[in-house]
Amino acid sequence: MPLKKVIETRKLNRVFKNGDIEVHALTEIDLVIEEGEFVAIMGSSGSGKSTLLHILGCLDKPSSGEYYLDGVHVNKLNKNQLADIRNQKIGFIFQSYNLLSRTTALENVELPLVYDRTGRFTNSKELAKKALEQVGLEDRIYHKTNELSGGQQQRVAIARALINDPALILSDEATGNLDSRTSIDIADLFVRLNNEGKTILMITHEPEIAQFAKRMIYLRDGRVLTDELIKNRSTKESALKALELIT
Ligand SMILES: Nc1ncnc2c1ncn2[C@@H]1O[C@H](COP(=O)(O)OP(=O)(O)OP(=O)(O)O)[C@@H](O)[C@H]1O
Ligand SMILES: [Mg+2]
Repeated sequence: MPLKKVIETRKLNRVFKNGDIEVHALTEIDLVIEEGEFVAIMGSSGSGKSTLLHILGCLDKPSSGEYYLDGVHVNKLNKNQLADIRNQKIGFIFQSYNLLSRTTALENVELPLVYDRTGRFTNSKELAKKALEQVGLEDRIYHKTNELSGGQQQRVAIARALINDPALILSDEATGNLDSRTSIDIADLFVRLNNEGKTILMITHEPEIAQFAKRMIYLRDGRVLTDELIKNRSTKESALKALELIT
């Protein structure tokens, strides 16, 4: 049986217009990502990575081209439908964790369910606890955001992204603010979530983090330069060793 396509784009373009100046942030992106993939997106600053992620995450619309998310033709949706599809199908993780301060880990993780209008979730506290367990924070659920380390805060953000069981996890420089060891821990967490079946698309500018993924796409000037499977994937142990953090 062919695998389900979580993402399919056809000739996706995104042009930003500023007065007379046009920036072609994305040009003719044809991309298919199947269920269970773990894809790293790399490319220099300004190459279009975040622009692509915003479109794939239904936070922005392409200037032209088609986008299908989990079989839904996104171009045809109105604003409310886009908000719904975001809530139902996508978990976002950003560099700045975007957590509410002075609010507990549990409450932060519960938040997306408050906005879910499908009525699918009746036991949000329990689900939030489970998500926090999934990221190894079961002993921090009642800690407030400002009482947690950067790595722990990012784990809370990941738990929040997981809570509504999204088809797709989108991460934009999730490890950008973290030290090497903590970054490896987060990459290793992504590997585990992927092993549990989550489809993950992760932007990173760190090659040693990208090396945890199964496939790497390199963007240059808004185009796909290379798109390859990763042969020698890193593990937590090999990455720590490479950094001489363990011997
Ligand atoms: N809202 C916007 N208005 C105008 N131009 C934009 C806008 N957003 C992005 N751009 C331009 O589009 C191009 C791609 O930007 P993008 O943020 O996608 O790059 P990136 O690969 O994520 O870079 P970085 O690694 O620095 O985060 C850049 O030239 C940027 O200036
Ligand atoms: Mg970016």
